[in-house]
Amino acid sequence: MKKLFVKTYGCQMNVYDSARMADLLAPLGYVPTQGPEDADMVILNTCHIREKAAEKVYSELGRLKKLKDARTQAGGAMTIAVAGCVAQAEGAEILARQSAVDLVVGPQSYHRLPEMIARLARSGGPALETDFPAQAKFDFLPEQDCGAGPAAFLSVQEGCDKFCTFCVVPYTRGSEYSRPAASVLAEAEGLVAKGAREITLLGQNVNAYRGAGPDGEPWTLARLITALAQMEGLQRLRYTTSHPRDMSDDLITAHREVAALMPHLHLPVQSGSDRVLQAMNRQHSASDYLRTVERVRAARPDIALSSDFIVGFPGETDADFEETLSLVRLVGYAQSFSFKYSARPGTPAAARKQVPEDVKSARLQALQALLGAQQDEFNAACAGRVLSVLFEKPGRKEGQGVGRTPYLQPVHVNGAASLIGQLADVRIDAVHANSLKGTLAHSAVRKKVLVH
Ligand code: 5AD
Ligand code: SF4
Repeated sequence: MKKLFVKTYGCQMNVYDSARMADLLAPLGYVPTQGPEDADMVILNTCHIREKAAEKVYSELGRLKKLKDARTQAGGAMTIAVAGCVAQAEGAEILARQSAVDLVVGPQSYHRLPEMIARLARSGGPALETDFPAQAKFDFLPEQDCGAGPAAFLSVQEGCDKFCTFCVVPYTRGSEYSRPAASVLAEAEGLVAKGAREITLLGQNVNAYRGAGPDGEPWTLARLITALAQMEGLQRLRYTTSHPRDMSDDLITAHREVAALMPHLHLPVQSGSDRVLQAMNRQHSASDYLRTVERVRAARPDIALSSDFIVGFPGETDADFEETLSLVRLVGYAQSFSFKYSARPGTPAAARKQVPEDVKSARLQALQALLGAQQDEFNAACAGRVLSVLFEKPGRKEGQGVGRTPYLQPVHVNGAASLIGQLADVRIDAVHANSLKGTLAHSAVRKKVLVH
């Protein structure tokens, strides 16, 4: 038995990929462990989307080298792999800069890990795989195991053809690829059999999904969601991340018609200024976005909206930034992520004239104050309501269960630990900054009594 430690940085796609790497290595005898200290194999699954990602990876590798050296001196061994988007972007540079690294594997190539490990054992030399192989890695992955829980992730689409001028994703994850519907449905069935009650469909541009259907015709995301909603035992569906341009009518209609589709939508806008949106190559205007929000709200009035924002994009003026604040006031977000623009090497905007750091910081602070107030307002409006919660894990307190509402808010409920893996109605009693507190509503308690 060998021990595997995977450290995950970045987005949910990486969380999914990390679980799949663990699944891939399980047949080779690797079992997950909690830290690098006792690991025989350490994988850093890296993210390149913002700020100094590569530098962070190199300093983590410096720490791992010390562990590896100590292990080698004691007569043992440790294999170090760098995976994810920094691996894709830096490639052989990683092997040149840090001799302790044995394997470098990009996000489209990690299904080759077992083969790379075998090669390493034969040759002893480091190995690198950062191609975008035509053959989809999904065909080579074993059934999902390590990542399964009541709320599971399922990658249905990867890559991006949009080329926003700030973003590395089209370079690190490659062009858009959608998995065939049948393979998504089969993976979902496996997850449900292992106890998943909620599945979040993942993709960099998930609403651009166009996977081949069983009849060879491409399926839209709405069609895939409708098919999944019929699966026995699968009670909740979500999807992320969506591009405003790809919010098609059928997907919006699904929010009205498919009960299992949760009322939450992450729809990044990035900026409220048309000038900046154009410089970002977002391919939509602020009013296009607002119209889309209106259409979505007409279909599902209680939908919780979230977004990503970038402040201090090259050329952003105070007036542009004000337009972002105005858009936020018009939409009213339940939750958001906001970042200072960081120049990513190789992307078009990196070479443009940059906004000074102190201006970026001031704008970020102002935006986050507004977004924070909106989040508080959204959460406060839930106080006193009874919401359905899917319990996912035990809480820190004895007997406590932690789950999520349809709107994705985490909820802590005392006495709900035995409900993990189930949905129950919860009355929201208290609202904290990032989570809610509730008690089991009467009907949920009754159901529990009936079950036991
Ligand atoms: N600088 C700052 N934020 C960025 N994002 C992507 N690239 C950059 C960058 N260069 C943000 C966007 C995106 C989210 C995942 O990360 O808001 O939606
Ligand atoms: Fe990056 Fe834009 Fe593609 Fe999103 S849509 S992954 S921000 S290039």
